[in-house]
Amino acid sequence: LWLALGIRKRQPGEPPVENGLIPYLGCALQFGANPLEFLRSRQKKYGHIFTCKIAGKYFHFLCDPFSYHAVIRQGRHLDWKKFHFSTSVKAFGHDSMDPRHGYTTENLHQTFLKTLQGEALPSLIETMMENLQSVMLQSDTLSPSKDRWDVDGIFAFCYKVMFESGYLTLFGKDLGNDKNAARQEAQKALVLNALANFKEFDKIFPALVAGLPIHVFKSAHSARENLAKTMLAENLSKRENVSDLISLRMLLNDTLSTFNDLSKARTHVALLWASQANTLPATFWSLLYMIRSPEAMKAANEEVKKILESSGQRVDPSKPQLTLSREDLDNMPVIDSIIKEAMRLSSASMNVRVAKEDFLLHLDNQESYRIRKDDVIALYPQMLHFDPEIYEDPLTYKYDRYLDDSGQEKTTFYREGRKLRYYYMPFGSGVTKCPGRFFAVHEIKQFLALVLSYFDMELLDSAVKVPPLDQSRAGLGILQPTYDIDFRYKLKTQ
Ligand code: HEM
Repeated sequence: LWLALGIRKRQPGEPPVENGLIPYLGCALQFGANPLEFLRSRQKKYGHIFTCKIAGKYFHFLCDPFSYHAVIRQGRHLDWKKFHFSTSVKAFGHDSMDPRHGYTTENLHQTFLKTLQGEALPSLIETMMENLQSVMLQSDTLSPSKDRWDVDGIFAFCYKVMFESGYLTLFGKDLGNDKNAARQEAQKALVLNALANFKEFDKIFPALVAGLPIHVFKSAHSARENLAKTMLAENLSKRENVSDLISLRMLLNDTLSTFNDLSKARTHVALLWASQANTLPATFWSLLYMIRSPEAMKAANEEVKKILESSGQRVDPSKPQLTLSREDLDNMPVIDSIIKEAMRLSSASMNVRVAKEDFLLHLDNQESYRIRKDDVIALYPQMLHFDPEIYEDPLTYKYDRYLDDSGQEKTTFYREGRKLRYYYMPFGSGVTKCPGRFFAVHEIKQFLALVLSYFDMELLDSAVKVPPLDQSRAGLGILQPTYDIDFRYKLKTQ
């Protein structure tokens, strides 16, 4: 009977199991409504590990941060590729990128490391800095003035500035666009269309990950296909200053895969999504929390001034050519802490691995649990980020939470008197840790440094409440706000 109902009965040695009330969906609705509350209540009832059926799969939630290591280190029983590759196929519609399926022999992981980190980073940062200043001050995305305040939503502002700058940084600019006004307009229209399509598609992303077919969503489907069309090789090859990431991926699509042209283009849409979907809300939360805190604004302003003075640079909106080297960006502990604290409060990435075979999972407290083949093991970092034992007063934004007594990055956090190895995980963990994380933090630092340098900024309502997180995207990364917050900005008089 259990089998016929698709219900699992707990076997000796297995974690406690909840099948939920609805066949197939299991606990999906309760989990989806408020994941943190759901997991906390189960943790109270069951302890460090428990199993929930969610949308036909069994998820073992591991809640003891001292046991995270057992999942994060690359064990032979755990597979990270299965989940990631199949999610990407479901959402973006390209052929499988898992070499085991035979469509490509590219090692994507290596491609990402080679083109987003180490020696590849300085040129990405340099291009992003130029693009940010051009979008903020020279293209007509904004038209800031010294004599007039402009009002905008903070999310809307971050969205258009970061999307355009990030898009041009990854996918380059139309060849020859500098000289010709008509081409410049075409370029602008391309980016605006991409932004509109991205927004439309991103709205239904959680539904696609949950397994709904994209055909159900007409306008999002055509938005995704429109994006893919702009990323066909025949179009990308007309662009200059394309990032190493995209050029190398184009080359490997052509030389190592059997993908057709559209499938190749869809792999680029996947990267556009990865590079923007978390960065946009992360930038919003960083700017919002910074503006709301006069101390944070003051400390950040001083940090930026000091860095620019040390390299003899003057802020001049009519010649926007500020540069921040990688060393400069690594030497901004205050802004780093402002961003980290904003992401602590807004990230809800779920880290998952799939069991390749039946095995015994050993926890830190010497207990072991039997895990069945194809079950999912999940870590939910919000449990860490909102743990009052780790972060005192966890719902409060403290801009200096990640600064130590000497004003440098703080890396020691404790639980039950023990030092934690994992206390901050918006970028995931182990092999599936975001390969773009250094670039992501750098670009948000650049954005904050530039808005602080060029603009005076104020909230319209200085006592405005922080908007709640949109939980519909829980599990997928940095959550968006449920509504936008207005601010006003104008060019600084130097
Ligand atoms: C994957 C977070 C920005 C590129 C991931 C994952 C997380 C994440 C949690 C892993 C998901 C998992 O475990 O399944 C973030 C956050 C960002 C950010 C919070 C910004 C604040 C970026 C940027 C880029 C990027 C700017 C590229 C330019 C990628 C790629 C992957 C990834 C390519 C897939 C890696 C793989 O499957 O091997 N990101 N990310 N991310 N991210 Fe990011």
